[in-house]
Amino acid sequence: MQTHEIVRRFSQHFVSAGHTPVPSASLILDDPTLLFVNAGMVQFKPYFLGDAPPPYPRATSIQKCVRTGDIDEVGKTTRHNTFFQMAGNFSFGDYFKEGAITHAWNLVTGSQDAGGYGFDPDRIWVTVYETDDEAIALWKKVAGLPDERIQRRDGLDNYWDMGVPGPGGPCSEIYYDRGPEFGKDGGPVVDEDRYLEIWNLVFMQDVRGADSPKYGHPPIGTLPKKNIDTGMGVERVAYLLQGVENVYETDLVRPVISRAEEFSGRRYGASHEDDVRFRVIADHARSGVMIIGDGVTPSNEGRGYVLRRLLRRIVRSARLLGVNEPVLASFAEVVRDEMAPTYPELESGFERIAAVVTAEEEAFLQTLTSGSRIFDTAVAATKKTGKLVLPGDDAFQLHDTYGFPIDLTLEMAAEAGLQVDQDRFRVLMQEQRDRAKADAKARKVGHGDGSVYRTVLDAHGSTEFLGYTLLEAEATVVGLLVDGVATPAATTGQKVEVVLDRTPFYAEAGGQQADHGVLRGASFVVRVDDVQSPVPGLRVHRGVVTDGEVSLDSSVIAEVDRGRRAAISRAHTGTHLVHAGVRGALGTSAAQAGSLNAPGRLRFDFTSPSGAVSPTTLGEIEDEINSVLQENREIQAYETSMDEARKLGAMMLFGEKYGDRVRVVDMGEYSRELCGGTHVGRTGEIGMIKVLSEGSIGSGVRRVEALVGLDAFRHVSAEHVLVTSLADQLKAKPEELPERVASLVERLRLAERDLEKVRADAALASAGTLAAAAEDVDGVALVAAEAPAGVSGNDLRSLAADVRTRLGSRPGVVALFAPADGKVSFVVATTAAARDRGLAAGKLVPAFAGPIGGRGGGKPDLAQGGGTDPAGVSDAIAALRSALRG
Ligand code: ALA
Repeated sequence: MQTHEIVRRFSQHFVSAGHTPVPSASLILDDPTLLFVNAGMVQFKPYFLGDAPPPYPRATSIQKCVRTGDIDEVGKTTRHNTFFQMAGNFSFGDYFKEGAITHAWNLVTGSQDAGGYGFDPDRIWVTVYETDDEAIALWKKVAGLPDERIQRRDGLDNYWDMGVPGPGGPCSEIYYDRGPEFGKDGGPVVDEDRYLEIWNLVFMQDVRGADSPKYGHPPIGTLPKKNIDTGMGVERVAYLLQGVENVYETDLVRPVISRAEEFSGRRYGASHEDDVRFRVIADHARSGVMIIGDGVTPSNEGRGYVLRRLLRRIVRSARLLGVNEPVLASFAEVVRDEMAPTYPELESGFERIAAVVTAEEEAFLQTLTSGSRIFDTAVAATKKTGKLVLPGDDAFQLHDTYGFPIDLTLEMAAEAGLQVDQDRFRVLMQEQRDRAKADAKARKVGHGDGSVYRTVLDAHGSTEFLGYTLLEAEATVVGLLVDGVATPAATTGQKVEVVLDRTPFYAEAGGQQADHGVLRGASFVVRVDDVQSPVPGLRVHRGVVTDGEVSLDSSVIAEVDRGRRAAISRAHTGTHLVHAGVRGALGTSAAQAGSLNAPGRLRFDFTSPSGAVSPTTLGEIEDEINSVLQENREIQAYETSMDEARKLGAMMLFGEKYGDRVRVVDMGEYSRELCGGTHVGRTGEIGMIKVLSEGSIGSGVRRVEALVGLDAFRHVSAEHVLVTSLADQLKAKPEELPERVASLVERLRLAERDLEKVRADAALASAGTLAAAAEDVDGVALVAAEAPAGVSGNDLRSLAADVRTRLGSRPGVVALFAPADGKVSFVVATTAAARDRGLAAGKLVPAFAGPIGGRGGGKPDLAQGGGTDPAGVSDAIAALRSALRG
């Protein structure tokens, strides 16, 4: 039964029993206690608590839910999803225990013809809260369940609340017994894998406080009425009704696995390790897309961090499957196709979803490539010394230099069988934070507390800035410091800080980098590498005495490095143009959030509530600002009053403090901005602006990076060479390249698929040979052999089934082994005649698994599993043979 049908039947069942159908709430409900909606009842919380009157006495919903608490279990068990759909029915002071039990029982065991799910009533088990005799009596009365299939459990299992103060109550859970091949007898208290929980009925009656009744604390109150809250796991029901092995193989999730198979060329079902990766991808792709669909973007905290973690785990799993190309957008497409019929916002918002995942993937791939090498080296070094703990210093380096989140390091280390010294990691992180604070201060104020600069300022007043018009000027040394201490003179080789009475040097400010240059005296030269303003008004030149001896009161000629200054000014004017272009295209909500003006390149950060800027818009902005360059507009800079600047409509930075007198940099109507930086005289001097990238830097802030002037030209020119040489190689015109490459990739994909099929067919064709070689073991035809190379997973199963068919009505056992990558997988199949003799495939596994270090199980007709020791295959075959004899 398809998921869609399961959901439809649920709604229909409850609507016809008088429930109002309520649409799923967004995953991001305005509830400060939750990162994501994690149960159907969340949107009804006010009705349970009595904060609002319920608009209906009964409701039903199919709620999208995210739970990431068990993220590490995903793919390893059969049932852990980070995204799932919870089907629920709710009673607000209307029916209580008996109604809930009756409704659930009828749907679960009602025949499929009559609209139910048709589960065999004899395989249903339930649990109840330890003291809930009433529920036990009702299960007997309503469902006729025998005592042995009703189990009592304590609050840990059978009390439900939201994990935070609020409504809660004892509950009763419905389980389905998948059969003895999946685990031990004894009901859910013994084995929750064999007995799978499908539905939780909560008898919602309490208010819990800081401490939950789950852990034995009494509730702090009762709800105004007795209510019902239930949750049926749609994916779990689907996996049982679809006869697949787990929640990842259900109709809406499995297609992502198929796409991952196409990307990787590996088969799902071939090895346990890969299967876990396939399932992680399938699960996380769905949660990731659903979360972005509800408006979250990746970041370093809260929901954004959960999302980032999910997306990055997908990328890494794909890498481990051998995929090196970008995958997220493609997986997102599959999820959209499966889920959009129920959640149309995925269709309409897909452009944004694709942009978000693509940007995140690009950023992460870069991180991964560089960091993984360092990680591998660190692991090898640790193992060599025989230790099992990766040093905190390595984890810190990965974090600091390669941007590896600590979670990632922990996970990768665990996969390599190592732990991480997290205490040491935390110590280093703290030290770094302290250092960064101290550094920032030192850079701004130089040494000490800044009093030494204030002394200079008090004695000589502010440094007069000449640099808007002059790049060279005469001046006098009024302050001289070595190691932060005032000194009368400094000589060759010494690092100095020089304060002049007047200077053409621009001190770093407003994103514009500092000027470099030289201070020349009669008998000395000081090279200037940095200029800062540690106290307002003072400009401090930092550098080295490269010749002679500089002393206080010396006369100097201060000369700015013209090339650097010009390149910086081009970038700064370019930033204003990008700012104007972005605002023009996106509106005033795109506010400047930071910038960098360096020689030949710029960075412009801005808030963008609407997410990524589309490539088309970005192209239009670039086109427009380059045409402003060609207009060769004059750039005027003047001082005026704040009022006047406002009237002129000059842009100012939000949150910035300005005095009464402000400086306006004016390129006419196109761009007018308050700014203290240096600019070119006419826009034409910039020559060219080439936008390189646009991307997220987190929390709704976007970054545009661009090159200006000759740097822009050289970049374009290099790309031209690249395109020309590609066109040459592919014998295509440059404009035909995208199509040509796409068709090559497609042809390659088809060819690989054909090849795969030819291989599989050839392998399967060996069924006849294998069957013909059956040996007779005490009247049983035994085919036990290594499968032909290249057969694994589903193919191995089909091959075994095919051989079995060829054994016909004889009692026959087929056991095929497929060694690969230091492991071995196997399939055992039995004919009906063999089963009549008591030879069940699942039960044969233990007889031969030992020599290959294997495990596995399955049904009487077909079982499968895997082992870690391919060298033991012939011993395993011998063991099976003697087991049949026995
Ligand atoms: N609110 C209950 C649960 O999530 C039904 O299990």
